[in-house]
Amino acid sequence: MNNVYGIILGAGEGTRMRSCLPKVLHKVCGKELISHVVECMKEAVKMQKLIVVVGSGSNLVIKCLEKYNIDYVFQKERLGSAHALLCAKDKLKNLDGQLIVMCGDTPLVQSKTIKSLLKYHIKNKNSATVLSGIIENPFGYGRIVRDKKGKVVYIVEESSATNQEKQNKEINSGIYCFDLQVLWKALIKVDNKNNKKEYYLTDVIAILNKDGYKTDAVALTNETEILGVNTRKQLSVANKILRDRKNNELLARGVTIINPETTYIDTDVVIGQDTIIKPNSYIEANTKIGRNCIIGPDTTIKDSLIADNVFITNSYIEKSKIEKGVKVGPFAHLRPNSVLKENVRIGNFSEVKKSVVGYGSKINHLSYIGDAIVGKNVNIGAGTITCNYDGKNKFQTIIKDDVFVGSNVNLVAPVNIGSKVFIAAGSTITDNISSNKLAIARERQIVKEKNKRIK
Ligand code: UD1
Ligand code: CA
Repeated sequence: MNNVYGIILGAGEGTRMRSCLPKVLHKVCGKELISHVVECMKEAVKMQKLIVVVGSGSNLVIKCLEKYNIDYVFQKERLGSAHALLCAKDKLKNLDGQLIVMCGDTPLVQSKTIKSLLKYHIKNKNSATVLSGIIENPFGYGRIVRDKKGKVVYIVEESSATNQEKQNKEINSGIYCFDLQVLWKALIKVDNKNNKKEYYLTDVIAILNKDGYKTDAVALTNETEILGVNTRKQLSVANKILRDRKNNELLARGVTIINPETTYIDTDVVIGQDTIIKPNSYIEANTKIGRNCIIGPDTTIKDSLIADNVFITNSYIEKSKIEKGVKVGPFAHLRPNSVLKENVRIGNFSEVKKSVVGYGSKINHLSYIGDAIVGKNVNIGAGTITCNYDGKNKFQTIIKDDVFVGSNVNLVAPVNIGSKVFIAAGSTITDNISSNKLAIARERQIVKEKNKRIK
């Protein structure tokens, strides 16, 4: 398909959200409403140009969309959806082709629906095709009004609709295909003579019909796809629908989700076959999890890479990388930039930050390891901590292979521990230790008779 262009309307204030954040930047399943729409458009069809109309909170919206390499126009005053579209005219004038218009607040639309809409529009040689939907509770949406023969006559907004028009369950999804040249001619004829004094894009349909162009509306989908997010309530409904969609997709691919009702997996997460996700788990952002893992219950994993055969329970993991066969938890915290090599074990109440932990090493109980490089097969005793911070700066601890760190050791960084070193329990290590040594850094025990005064 040649000469297809796209415009996303995202300048609205989103007053009904009652938020300081522009509406289109609210997230469902970890991704901004408008990012869902951009990705849907890009996936649906190769476009010559994709333009987003920004206005309210434009800096933030543009920043959010940086990753997509698209074009912008600025709508200075929010005078309505027709006015928003007109703002993009300069970028597209003198061009022939078809234009797909979507609103930035419809995150559930699937690319295959947009593809079918465009196909239908072109096949029927329409000047305008509206994606409609049949909705049980159409309150708030524009209604498609048809004549006795079923031909679309106009769209009426909720606030202008008569009681009879309000009964109509066929609604406007806010998604359209237009013939570009015909659209510009009709758009300048739209006025703002309505309750809200806005220039409604929907009025274009009546104008085109009057001018003898062919318009149509087609319901290619159901209401779970065309939900527009105007309120927090609708945001939560959209979240639920998208979450179910994601869970179902993973179930179909061979992932076990014990209780989908309490499992929150973001859109871009990838999970391998035969992995089991237990309840109350949040798997977020760009996390990738391999095969045969057991994750949860009560676990959060953000933006992390988890290999095959990993076991994580009751833990919190951010921006970390975990290799094969690792066990984490219960109650472990991996902070950003932690790397756990194969077969590592991070146990109860241990925290790791910006550290690499080598093959087979164990940090089983109550430890803090920060800014460290830990070698292979190291045993970190219960209660051991790296003292990595002097109140101003952070320092590194290096522990080579096969070191045994006894319980309750303080490693005062910067400090290097050579391979095969043995550190006695309760030591506070302030100096480097070379390989194969035994280090004890604590008071000797004294034992006295009871009731005798110590001088
Ligand atoms: C709009 C449609 C309605 C449809 C519904 C579907 C109009 C007049 N009405 O209503 O028929 O059923 O979507 O969800 O179009 N926008 C701007 N600039 C503006 C005004 C709006 O960019 O000046 C953008 C908004 O950011 C939003 C979109 O246009 O993405 C739609 O505006 P919104 O206020 O959400 O319209 P609805 O009342 O939902
Ligand atoms: Ca809307």
